[in-house]
Amino acid sequence: MATDTSKSAAPAGIDCSPIIEPLETIERRGFSRHNLFRDWLELILYALQRDDDAYLATLEKYKSEKSREEGNRNADLFSESFGHLMRLTQESNLDVLGDVYEEFGMNSNHFGQYFTPHPTAKMLARFDVDDSHGNPPVSIADPACGSGRLLVYAAREIDEEVWAFGQDLDEMCAMISAINFTLFNLNGIIIQGDSLKLTKHRAWQTTNSGLGGSIREIDPEQCSVHEDALRAAREDAQEIEANEEPTVADLTGQADISSWT
Ligand SMILES: C[S@@+](CC[C@H](N)C(=O)[O-])C[C@H]1O[C@@H](n2cnc3c(N)ncnc32)[C@H](O)[C@@H]1O
Repeated sequence: MATDTSKSAAPAGIDCSPIIEPLETIERRGFSRHNLFRDWLELILYALQRDDDAYLATLEKYKSEKSREEGNRNADLFSESFGHLMRLTQESNLDVLGDVYEEFGMNSNHFGQYFTPHPTAKMLARFDVDDSHGNPPVSIADPACGSGRLLVYAAREIDEEVWAFGQDLDEMCAMISAINFTLFNLNGIIIQGDSLKLTKHRAWQTTNSGLGGSIREIDPEQCSVHEDALRAAREDAQEIEANEEPTVADLTGQADISSWT
């Protein structure tokens, strides 16, 4: 699916219940809320990569339900949620998946996982992007990207070719950003890893195309994100730490994004 990447006036306050309800039905059948949400994200990523074997292997533990009618099996419910996610993302042109993550209660207080509200994120994107960037392609980066919404909204403000780089410590946040980059048809790299310790666990590359975004999981050691940018973010973080109580949100605007190429 390719959503419209033009500036949208769609209001925030998206009703995520059509996405959440099928997932909660699966939970009531005895599956852990956290695990099934993570598996749902994994299923979406495998579906987008057309990796049938990995998709079916992830579904395996949700089987053993021969008595259920077609449409009401766990596999059908996962697909139903994904269908509504694509529809609502397309209709609102907003990061719906980030809202679902928070509404489903997956965000961790410990890691400060509060995503910037849509209107603020769009406003920040507008203020932060000016015409002074160098020659295209333009690089934008968020080393604590959460659901990736700041990057998605910033990319729309740039008329040139854009490459977006996102990293998040949390696996589910990285997966969500990778899905969002694909749904919003961005060129980009998403890494799951610690931006301060410079660790990388998983990575995805997404590619813009006229037929809709495509995605593939890549070896995190091979991805072309410049280590220097992450090092700069860490140095900025240490400077902040020396002066005041550090927050990851502070780091978001600190990295020298021009070196993330
Ligand atoms: C306040 S949220 C902001 C997300 C996004 N930038 C936004 O504005 O919507 C901070 C994010 O940083 C991530 N995070 C925390 N520590 C991190 C680290 N050391 N490296 C990378 N990401 C980290 C959290 O998982 C969380 O998703």
